[in-house]
Amino acid sequence: MLASAINGIRLSIHVLAATVWVGGQITLGGLVPSIRKVSPEAISAVTKAFGRLSWPAFWILVLTGFWNIGAVNINSQSTAWQIVLYVKIFIVIVSGGSAYLHTKSKTTRSLAIWGAISGLSAVSALVMGVFLAN
Ligand code: HEM
Repeated sequence: MLASAINGIRLSIHVLAATVWVGGQITLGGLVPSIRKVSPEAISAVTKAFGRLSWPAFWILVLTGFWNIGAVNINSQSTAWQIVLYVKIFIVIVSGGSAYLHTKSKTTRSLAIWGAISGLSAVSALVMGVFLAN
């Protein structure tokens, strides 16, 4: 069945923000080694510029996520659906928290740990979202 206009808009904004938050982290992770080779001092400017795009995208995901919940009658969903939703919300908190700690990291070890958790949790939230939307 074709989605209604309002559902199409709601999910398009949610998915567009997910492409920036999740896809952006993967893309940046792939670009950083090349940027480091050419100009190590540029990394800080590039990651700051990415933050100006990714954090608004994250908050749009949270806002449209609650819009999604409002639009999908939770009580009519299966227990499995509800569990995936609550796990997803927890994973989104991990995603935002670990990305924040990654930006505040001072050591290579801390950067690697929080960066890995941030990337993995972002992808996990995306996959759970796909299962929620069927
Ligand atoms: C890192 C943050 C997030 C990512 C990457 C993400 C990603 C996604 C994706 C890819 C979909 C599937 C859309 C589709 O296939 O059409 C989705 C659906 C959904 N998301 Fe998120 N999401 C995030 C945050 C949230 C939050 C914070 C909530 C709730 C507060 C939420 C609630 C939902 C719900 C209920 C659906 C199903 C909507 C429907 O079936 O109409 N999401 N999400």
